[in-house]
Amino acid sequence: MKLRELVNPHIRDLEPYKPGKPIEELERELGIRDSVKLASNECPLGPSTLALESMYAAAEELNRYPEDSCHYLRAELAQALDVAPERLVFAAGSDGILEILAKCFLGPGDEAVFPWPSFAMYPIVTQGAGAVPVTVPLDSELRVDIGALLEAVTDRTRLLFLANPNNPTGTSIGRGAFRALLDALPERVVVVADEAYLEYVRRSDFPETLQDMRGRRTLVALRTFSKIYGLAGLRVGYGVGDPELIGYLARARQPFNVSSLAQAAARGALRDREHVRRVRDLTHKGLSQLEAGLQALGLSFAESDANFLLVDIGQDATALYDALLRQGVITRSMAGFGLSNHLRVTAGLPEENERFLAAMARELRR
Ligand SMILES: Cc1ncc(COP(=O)(O)O)c(C=O)c1O
Repeated sequence: MKLRELVNPHIRDLEPYKPGKPIEELERELGIRDSVKLASNECPLGPSTLALESMYAAAEELNRYPEDSCHYLRAELAQALDVAPERLVFAAGSDGILEILAKCFLGPGDEAVFPWPSFAMYPIVTQGAGAVPVTVPLDSELRVDIGALLEAVTDRTRLLFLANPNNPTGTSIGRGAFRALLDALPERVVVVADEAYLEYVRRSDFPETLQDMRGRRTLVALRTFSKIYGLAGLRVGYGVGDPELIGYLARARQPFNVSSLAQAAARGALRDREHVRRVRDLTHKGLSQLEAGLQALGLSFAESDANFLLVDIGQDATALYDALLRQGVITRSMAGFGLSNHLRVTAGLPEENERFLAAMARELRR
């Protein structure tokens, strides 16, 4: 008996998600220390003290199952976002919501449309549901091409994933383009506006998705506590949308899908507005530092509204990625995204950005 023949074909052929290289793994492999990780768009300042205190207090009750509906987190977040509590659904990261969306709306023969390159989980959750990923190339400036996205929609399209700002490019679309997309798309297509990097956005005309859903019942905004709130290790994300649609997503989720520690930390993080401001300021300064340093090296990058830059190395970047690793600087290789001349680098602490720029300068001089 061949085990692989027992597995659903769409799972058997799935390309697993490739995470950024963990610091511990690099240091173990190379026998080095003091590495910096600028590979996973994480928050370099760490979590807020309020989040940690709230989590430690919750740890006393770890013998109990978590609050299944995220009752208190839901109430506090609903107030912070100025939306009704029944418009929220929670999961272990926005990845968790992506899986639930695929489970609810995709089946064999269905299509999910999304720009490419974009977030690596879109093809994975689509294929995982037995559906077909339909990728739409970005334009020559690595921006989402709204016209091309609309052209890719067919009778079989059930979901449209739109990361805004987009990962790995950092580029974003403004209010006008977003409205044009929503207005032109048939309502039967569920639009997933993935706003994981919303809090870093610098442009002033960014869509106000929660306040301006254009009466569309088939629109879900995704948000996360993994990025600016610095809680990636705990896994909390959420979706916001029409209460009926959110109700279906809630049916499809697992019970207790957000741990009690994660709920408590998210509530603490939400209260610490000052920490969020600090992370945003630090990130914007970090981006400016990286942009100036890269320009001095003669390198170009896409205009970013997120906490990272996609850097054009002008030639195959594989050797550079490896060389940076050997210097203890972890960036993200873009080879798997069809961007083999690029590297993605997350804005870190000033000294981490400096390490990256100095290592780049050394390698490019060779
Ligand atoms: C566009 C986008 N969406 C979703 C996620 C997943 O975030 P989470 O940690 O909430 O699962 C990421 C993570 O990098 C992302 O870049």
